[in-house]
Amino acid sequence: MPTRVWRIGLVGFGNVGQGFVRILARKREELRKRYGFEFKIVGIADPIKGSVYDSEGLDPKLLVKLVDEKGHIKDYPGGRKDIDSLTICRSGDIDIVVEVTPTNIETGEPGLTHIRVALEHGKHVVTSNKGPIAVAYPELKELAERKGVMLRFEGVVLSGTPAINLALEAMAGVDITKVEGIVNGTTNFILTKMEEGMSYEEALREAQRLGYAEADPTMDVEGWDAAIKAVIIANVLMDARITIKDVEREGITKITPEDVKEALRNGQRIKLLMRVVREGGNVRASVKPERINLSHPLANVVGVTNALTFYTDHLGPVTIVGPGAGRIETGQAILSDILAIHRYHTRFR
Ligand code: HSE
Repeated sequence: MPTRVWRIGLVGFGNVGQGFVRILARKREELRKRYGFEFKIVGIADPIKGSVYDSEGLDPKLLVKLVDEKGHIKDYPGGRKDIDSLTICRSGDIDIVVEVTPTNIETGEPGLTHIRVALEHGKHVVTSNKGPIAVAYPELKELAERKGVMLRFEGVVLSGTPAINLALEAMAGVDITKVEGIVNGTTNFILTKMEEGMSYEEALREAQRLGYAEADPTMDVEGWDAAIKAVIIANVLMDARITIKDVEREGITKITPEDVKEALRNGQRIKLLMRVVREGGNVRASVKPERINLSHPLANVVGVTNALTFYTDHLGPVTIVGPGAGRIETGQAILSDILAIHRYHTRFR
């Protein structure tokens, strides 16, 4: 089996970055045996958790231990500490940049600059950052193509549950006319917990503790996160050119535990539903809470689980159900994209 050592740099070491490194720490040997995939984590840059760079490679187990015990990696023994995110994006020493800084839905920054610089410098980029993909997908795609590198972003929708690459790769050739479902883990978790008797605030705190919520949880509960996913689905899977302002949006902040229980007494559940519909050259997108009957297929999608149905010409409806958020779950999205880059560069050439 062809093997290759990939030199990886992480920009951001929050929930997703840590989840990804945790997987690498656990599966190094298995990844080598099953896929011929070997790696060195050459650098990590995070303004809060700390930055460290070592051309010889950092120890993923030690990184995990430090972040678990101290909450940061500033005391990592050895390596250079005087680096920042752009050092990683420009480094001639790195093959793949993993961009996992928090999402900014308006400007896509700082992720957008990180991704642009990394692609300009000929690096493959893997990201779960929704902002840059929603704001600048056509430009970034063109840049990656021009530079002969890959830009992959499975984690932007439904964490590691295959959604983006399922549509782009596994279902290549279909026309998608509509996509609908539950695309925010935090709000679905809160709605489920409220049904079980928790208050809204307690449920949100729990979603934050479990690493589901955005750095700013307003993004989740006001429907912005689901709306930006709608933009990505429209622009990436339906060739639309919409922005977040085009999405009709309502969150769950006005919904009380009483509303949730009252719906249940009437054989219904409240769900935050996203819809993207293509009609001719027009794409409409919306996110809003709706009451659906318990017999509806989405009614039993509870907790952090999400679901999406793609309406296609060749296959009819194709539905996926799986985790919508989480550290390991989104770390898995990063891993699957990196393994796709590895597969492409070791098998198909
Ligand atoms: N905050 C997001 C969610 C993370 O709860 O779904 C995954 O995009």
